[in-house]
Amino acid sequence: MKKVGVVGWRGMVGSVLMDRMRAEGDFEGIDAIFYTTSQAGQAGPDVGQGTRPLLSATDLDALRQADIIVTCQGGDYTKDVHPRLRAAGWQGYWIDAASALRMVDDGVIILDPVNREVIDRALDAGLKDFVGGNCTVSLMLMGLMGLFQRGWVEWITSMTYQSASGAGAQNMLELVKQMGELSGCQTPGQTALELERLVTARQAAADFPVDNFGVPLAGSLIPWIDRGMENGQTREEWKGENETNKILGTKRFIPIDGQCVRVGAMRCHSQALTIKLNRDVPIAEIEVAIQSANDWVRLVPNEREQTIRQLTPAAVSGNLHIPVGRLRKMTLGSEFLTCFTVGDQLLWGAAEPLRRMLQILLGKL
Ligand code: HSE
Repeated sequence: MKKVGVVGWRGMVGSVLMDRMRAEGDFEGIDAIFYTTSQAGQAGPDVGQGTRPLLSATDLDALRQADIIVTCQGGDYTKDVHPRLRAAGWQGYWIDAASALRMVDDGVIILDPVNREVIDRALDAGLKDFVGGNCTVSLMLMGLMGLFQRGWVEWITSMTYQSASGAGAQNMLELVKQMGELSGCQTPGQTALELERLVTARQAAADFPVDNFGVPLAGSLIPWIDRGMENGQTREEWKGENETNKILGTKRFIPIDGQCVRVGAMRCHSQALTIKLNRDVPIAEIEVAIQSANDWVRLVPNEREQTIRQLTPAAVSGNLHIPVGRLRKMTLGSEFLTCFTVGDQLLWGAAEPLRRMLQILLGKL
């Protein structure tokens, strides 16, 4: 029975991963070992095998007993522990939610419905480090993989609408706290403009809760995600292009660029895409390509009722399906396609590729 070490299982992505693993029966047939960075010796979670004391996530001897380690502990942990564990001769598989190892040569970005061939080739080549992709990238690829598979994509511009969850659990809490502050401005009988003045004043008040976002997100948006880069992109925008090409293992680099924006959604990222096709493909063929690409993508007809009911963060939250809608040729020309897609940032955007990679390593997928 494979020993599978789990690190960072109590955090937000880790909790979603644990829920998914429980729901899919992933703990059956493995010996799960739970690690902690702060509570070694305390009782671990019971995943059907009884509880055992938590082991230290920084104790290399404790980690070395695992055949596979799955970590949602974050990039600092990976940068600290992974090189030391490898240097100590550990030959196991490392499955990671953090970005630290994504772009290193021996790190494989995992999104198996899209790049199972890349994963299998890496396994055959003896690679051992498998890393979940940036959430926006993974969700875009899950929605549009049919177009990439057919080699129709010349370039893409993506404009994102990213949820608070992508910034972290504290940010989600802060967003709703901000919303509460704003709703407190409402009084019976006031006009919309009276309310707006109070809301704007409240957002600017010194005691408005902005410890995590730095500025109001509720009733506003933030057109900046991650750190800035020399070329004027943010790192989030840079990832869109570079991770996509690495995940797909493209022979011709596909240019992808746009603007990444934080909005007041809870846990679903949305994206509006402009896609330059390299030929004039009829829209009916495009629809078939998109909706037949995997089991999770759902094509939403380009009409109001279904769009507002199915193609929103509120409709997708907590679900694995990836709706793609607002699909049409643009007035710019017959090779210009636009669409809108939404996906749960914590599921396909984070936890799901990790649990599926574990299943691949166990020979179950
Ligand atoms: N970087 C993403 C965001 C989340 O800030 O929304 C993780 O991929």
